[in-house]
Amino acid sequence: MSLKGKHAFITGCGKRLGRSMAEELLKHGMDISAHYRNSQKEVHELQEWAQTNGLGQVLPIPADLRSSEAIKRAVEAATQNLGPVDLLINSASDFYPTPIGSVTTEIWDSLFELNLRAPFFLTQQIVKTMNPGANVIFISDTHATKPIAKYAPYCATKAALVSLSRSLAKELSPDIRVNSISPGTLLAQHGATQEETTRAAQRTLLGRIGCPNDLIQGLLFLIRSSYITGFDLVIDGGRGLL
Ligand SMILES: NC(=O)c1ccc[n+]([C@@H]2O[C@H](COP(=O)([O-])OP(=O)(O)OC[C@H]3O[C@@H](n4cnc5c(N)ncnc54)[C@H](OP(=O)(O)O)[C@@H]3O)[C@@H](O)[C@H]2O)c1
Repeated sequence: MSLKGKHAFITGCGKRLGRSMAEELLKHGMDISAHYRNSQKEVHELQEWAQTNGLGQVLPIPADLRSSEAIKRAVEAATQNLGPVDLLINSASDFYPTPIGSVTTEIWDSLFELNLRAPFFLTQQIVKTMNPGANVIFISDTHATKPIAKYAPYCATKAALVSLSRSLAKELSPDIRVNSISPGTLLAQHGATQEETTRAAQRTLLGRIGCPNDLIQGLLFLIRSSYITGFDLVIDGGRGLL
């Protein structure tokens, strides 16, 4: 399936994994609605890079996804400028420790609003614009099924995201395929020490952390696999088996 001229909407694509997915899809000729919250500079650099290299278009889309109004405006801007969305990747997320005893309702709501509520309402808004053959991908986490201590609300949001993906695969079939990807550590977390990264590598069967290209290979596989829907692709070097 050729991706050239197709339209992808990616959340959180100024930096890190979102950015890597955007760069890859631009190389395949896709036009990108490039959502960001704070990474305006990075998204404009992405736009310039795509222009300089004759790749697909980049439409910067600023939005705080905790706001329902902002989600609505983001979808309107994307579809008015680049037409119906062919691929939605829900990647933006928050990740920080929340040991039991420290969690306030504000922290709980904040994580659930961004990691779970926003992907649902963004998807609800975008699927109205999608044509048959379109795809939705939710980026979950191997910790959805193999939770880590001190991150209970985060792990719960990611587990719910896999459930949401499977529910929507049923509801949106046969026209739209819906899948999730559950990565293990592909990029060290902000501020992680070398010791923490080494420990993350040791907690895999393959003895190393992954890299953004591992996610990209899984993403391209799901986009191209026209008979796969409602699937959670775990890319974690065997972390989930330990
Ligand atoms: N990194 C890994 O190894 C790993 C492992 C397992 C799962 N994952 C999952 O993969 C996805 C990408 O991971 P990552 O490490 O690249 O992500 P990240 O750096 O933690 O965050 C991605 C983006 O989320 C955006 N964001 C934060 N708050 C927002 C808000 N209120 N509204 C809109 N956007 C907001 C930020 O955009 P701005 O920069 O524009 O503010 C940020 O760049 C996430 O869903 C994560 O849970 C990652």
